[in-house]
Order: sequence, then C-alpha cells, then structure tokens
Amino acid sequence: MSEQVFINNDFADVMLNRKSVRRFDPEFKIDREEIKEMIAQACSAPSACNLQSWHFVIVDQASGKEKLKDVTMPFNYPQLETASAIVFVLGDTHSHKVYREVWTKYCQEGRISEEKLQEVFSTFLPLYENASQEFLEKDATLDGAMVAMQLLLVARSHGYEANAWAGYKAADLVTALDKDSQRYIPIMAISIGKADETPIDSARYDTESLISVLD
Ligand SMILES: Cc1cc2nc3c(=O)[nH]c(=O)nc-3n(C[C@H](O)[C@H](O)[C@H](O)COP(=O)(O)O)c2cc1C
Repeated sequence: MSEQVFINNDFADVMLNRKSVRRFDPEFKIDREEIKEMIAQACSAPSACNLQSWHFVIVDQASGKEKLKDVTMPFNYPQLETASAIVFVLGDTHSHKVYREVWTKYCQEGRISEEKLQEVFSTFLPLYENASQEFLEKDATLDGAMVAMQLLLVARSHGYEANAWAGYKAADLVTALDKDSQRYIPIMAISIGKADETPIDSARYDTESLISVLD
C-alpha cells in the first residue's frame, strides 16, 4: 500500500503528539475517497485469525449527523457536528462465517500450504463454529479496537486531528446507523477533521506503577 499520502510520516510525532481534538472547523471538508483511503490503511491492523471482524460507517453529511443526534450523548455534539467525517467502527460478529472461504483462498493464492490450511481448519475453525455470542463479541471488540487505534494515527499522518468517542446510546447506535444490530456491535466513533481548538494536554500514569514482571 502506498505511503505517498502520508503527509506526516514522522512516527514519533504522529503517535506521541496525538491528542483528542473534539472541536473541528465545520467548513473544512475531507474528500470521501480520502476517508476510504484512511480506512483501507487502518485495515492493515492485525485481527484474530485474520477474520477482520470490523465494519465502518462513514458519516460526512449534515443529514447523517442529524440522524445520530438522538443516540449521541450531548457532551459529544461538538465531535458529531463539527467533524469533517465521523467513522463509526462496528464489530462484525458474523465474520467467522467466511472463515473457510478466507483461508482456502490464502491456500489457493499460495500464501499458505495445504498442510497449514488443514492445521488452521482443525485448530481455530472449531473455536469459531462452536463460539458463544459472548466470545464472538469479545473477538470483534478486540479487532475493532485495533483498527480504530490505527485509524486515529492514520488520520494524523494525513494531516488531520481526531477524537475517539463511545459516548452514545450503545443499544440504539447500530440501528440508527441503518445496520443489522443482530450482526454488528458498536466499538467506537472516530471524528476526523481540521482542529479548531487546542486540545487538553492529557497526561499518563507513571508506567512503573502499571508494569509487573513475571519471571
Ligand atoms: C474507547 C474510548 C472512548 C472514548 N469516549 C469519549 C467520549 O465519549 N467523549 C470524548 O470526548 N472523548 C472520549 N474519548 C477520548 C478520551 O477521553 C481521551 O482519549 C483521553 O482523555 C486521553 O486524552 P488524549 O486522547 O488527548 O490523549 C474516548 C476514548 C476512548 C479510547
């Protein structure tokens, strides 16, 4: 995948200087194709068994934003109303339904051997075929969080700022996005745009207090 579009390719700056920007220039538009490009780049994220249990809903029009007002917590209205685009990251609990197909294709394309394919089918596939809803939702949540984090950083490398937010009515969000709530679960929203505020200079705990070592 091309790195040409990364106008900021300084990893230290992209990662270490990222802060949640919650208010954006409402007049600033990002081409929808570029939003799709950012999503495609974020999808280089790893996922459990490469099932890529994620789905994205782009909201970049006033009409779409209006439809989501009722399910958005009011403290997140600035992110909803002023962002050039909000990408709602959903988890896909049906991703395992194409498990056989995906891995068979890898084998046909020569990415893995027939032996490896049979190993995958006998080890991981049964996990998913017999999985509980809870297992599938957890897997989709982990995958979704990985790709959402990448999208936050990709947005910065495109020269934009972003904010991850989950302050919405989770039980109603998927339906409000016009998606199947039996299949998809909310992960988080990523608002992307041109900053119109100086973000809070957030701090982190001393990592020494967070780290244990098991010898
Ligand atoms: C899962 C998740 C949910 C969040 N939900 C919200 C939210 O609803 N509203 C909001 O303003 N910020 C939200 N945030 C942003 C956090 O408040 C922010 O990341 C944190 O305060 C650290 O600040 P920083 O991102 O500037 O480093 C969320 C972040 C994450 C990862």
